[in-house]
This record gives sequence, C-alpha cells and structure tokens, in this order.
Amino acid sequence: MKTIHVSADREYDVVIDTPYLAALKEVAASRSRVAIFFSADMKSSIPRIEGLDAEIFYFPIPDGEAGKNIEILHQSWNWLGAAGITRDDLVIGIGGGAVTDFAGFAAASWLRGVDWVAIPTTVAGMVDAAIGGKTGINSDYGKNLIGAFHSPISVIIDPQWLDSLSDRDFLAGLAEVVKCGFIEDGKILSAIKGKTLSDIRKSRELTIELIERSVQVKADVVSGDFKESFGREILNYGHTFGHAVELASKYSLRHGECVAIGMAFIAHLAVEVGVMSEDLLNEHVAILSSLGLPTTYSGAEWPELLATMKVDKKSRGNSLRFVVISEIGKTQRLENPIESALLTAYEKVCP
Ligand SMILES: NC(=O)c1ccc[n+]([C@@H]2O[C@H](COP(=O)([O-])OP(=O)(O)OC[C@H]3O[C@@H](n4cnc5c(N)ncnc54)[C@H](O)[C@@H]3O)[C@@H](O)[C@H]2O)c1
Repeated sequence: MKTIHVSADREYDVVIDTPYLAALKEVAASRSRVAIFFSADMKSSIPRIEGLDAEIFYFPIPDGEAGKNIEILHQSWNWLGAAGITRDDLVIGIGGGAVTDFAGFAAASWLRGVDWVAIPTTVAGMVDAAIGGKTGINSDYGKNLIGAFHSPISVIIDPQWLDSLSDRDFLAGLAEVVKCGFIEDGKILSAIKGKTLSDIRKSRELTIELIERSVQVKADVVSGDFKESFGREILNYGHTFGHAVELASKYSLRHGECVAIGMAFIAHLAVEVGVMSEDLLNEHVAILSSLGLPTTYSGAEWPELLATMKVDKKSRGNSLRFVVISEIGKTQRLENPIESALLTAYEKVCP
C-alpha cells in the first residue's frame, strides 16, 4: 500500500493498492449517514456494506456521460434531502470518472459542500478523474461545463476493480498514464516501452507502479496549482486537439483514445515549430502504437477541428494555446503557432 498526499483546497491522501471496503469503513467510521453514488450498470459489483454504524443509502445513476446531467443531479439532491444528509455526513462515488465527477459535484452543491470520498474503478478514474478536485456535469454546450472545485477527503484506489474492466477502457486510461510520462516522469515511459496492453494487464506489479507514478504526477501538479493557471495546464498535454477529435467523433471514441491522437498531433506540431526532436516524436508514436492506442484519425476536416480548438476552455480569447514538450519532463506553452505548422501536423495525423 502507498499513500500519496495532495495539498489543494484541502489536504487529503490518495491510498493506493488497498482493499477498498476496509479503507471505506475507516474513513466513514464517524459518520451517521453515508450516500453512495454508483453506475446502475455496475450494480452487481457494488456490495452491500456491512459493519458500519452509519445508515447507508445507495443511489444508482445512469452509466457514463448519461449520468452527468442536470436532471439526474436534480434527482440526486432530492435523494440527499430525503435521506437527511447533513454537513456531518458523507458522500461516496464508486465508479469510473463519470461517477466520481458526478458524486463530487453532488457533494459540492449539497448544503454548499459536504465531504466526499472517491473510489475510482477505472484506470482513467484512478490516475486522473478522481484526483484534483474537479467535479461536474455536462451541459448542452459541452462536457464538464458545469462544475466546482471540491476536493474529496480521501481517494481509495483498489486495483482489484480493474480485473473486470474492458480492454478498451483499460487502454484508454493508459493514454493518461503515457501523458504523465511525457510531461513529468520519464520512468513511466521506460516501464511501458516495448510492453503491450496484455503485458501490463497481466502484471499487477507493473499496473500498480504505473498508477502510483501517474497519481504522483497529478498530485504534484494539483498541489502546486489547484485552480489551473499554467502549472495545472500541463495536464492538458494532447488534450486540445484530443477534445476536438472527441467532439468530431461525437464521443464514439473514448477520451483516452482522443488524447493519444492529440499527443501524436502535438508531437508533430512541436517538431514543425522546432521545439521537439524527430526522435522524441517517434517515441510518442512508438509507445502509443505498441500499446494499441490510435495515433491517427480520419473522421474530420481541418476547419472543423480548428474551430473547436479555438473555443477550447484552455484557449483564451481567439488565440490557440497548446502545451508542448521539448524533452521528456520539460513542458512549455505554445501560443498561436503558424498556420502552416498546424496544417502539416494535421495532415500527418489525419492522412
Ligand atoms: N475531474 C477530472 O479531473 C476528470 C479528468 C479526466 C476525466 N474526467 C471525466 O471522467 C469521465 C471518463 O472516465 P472513465 O474513462 O472512467 O469513463 P466512465 O466513468 O464512463 O467509465 C467507462 C465505462 O467503464 C465502466 N466501468 C467502470 N468501472 C468498471 C469496472 N471496474 N469494471 C467494469 N466496468 C467498469 C463504466 O460503467 C463505463 O461504462 C468523463 O466524464 C470525463 O469528463 C474527469
């Protein structure tokens, strides 16, 4: 078991490689009522929790993005009210990033903020969504536009959950792990190099090492910059183009798959503007491809992708802003690169 400390709007620990039921009992021990949000699709995996003095309420929400909407949130406020959840009680989210985003925002918005605990059950949830205190739901105008910064009091990571995760979801989460490797911890890349998805899934030890290292990267970044000025922006590596692809694909691609395509794009762009070497570009493509992550996309034209990137929440005004790396672990901002470099990078990734 490893504990990683996060220091943001509150101090909390991410506990990695621990049986989640025991950890949950410990963290909920002094509470009178506990409200647990989980995906209705995972109902059979969520055990009834015995041995707590607290009264426990279970709230199933629709799976994935379908749950992250205002109607379900409205319903959840009624559930919390009917259950009599007070500021001394506890909200828990057990699930992928969609559930922990939702549970965190339900907790943030109920009584102006009650404590909550994240129990992520996907790779993306463990290394990214559950850590950092960003909570929220989707609006008709885009994903995650309604939300709040509201850190959990604890994040409990039990790798047992990953046994039932589909290969596609496991792999999508690994895109964020690779991202952490490029922006900060090169040892992640050395550990992954030459490995396939199946090699990683078969090795619990390697899986845990990758989770620990990625959580450490996110915890360091978030602790240094909770509310997202440039420090936290580095976590957006590959995401600007990735978000545009995600929207163009009408969310038929997983977020992580789009981030992988976005990292390939930004590596090509960084080479075009003279920030990155060809070798490092090739390393991006080699690592992503050997895992089985996509590095090309053929479903969108440049004007559509460019228009989306210009309204990306990381852009300011009408300017285009990217995070690039010059070496592994050396990030910098790239603003308004010349159009010809953007187009060349687009043509390489969208042949
Ligand atoms: N708050 C943040 O900082 C942050 C960061 C990144 C992503 N996110 C959000 O996270 C969400 C994506 O997270 P995700 O990739 O975990 O997707 P997800 O939550 O939609 O889960 C993907 C699928 O995996 C299933 N699943 C979850 N755990 C499982 C398990 N152990 N076994 C079998 N199936 C399981 C889910 O039911 C779902 O169908 C998005 O909504 C995104 O906006 C938030």
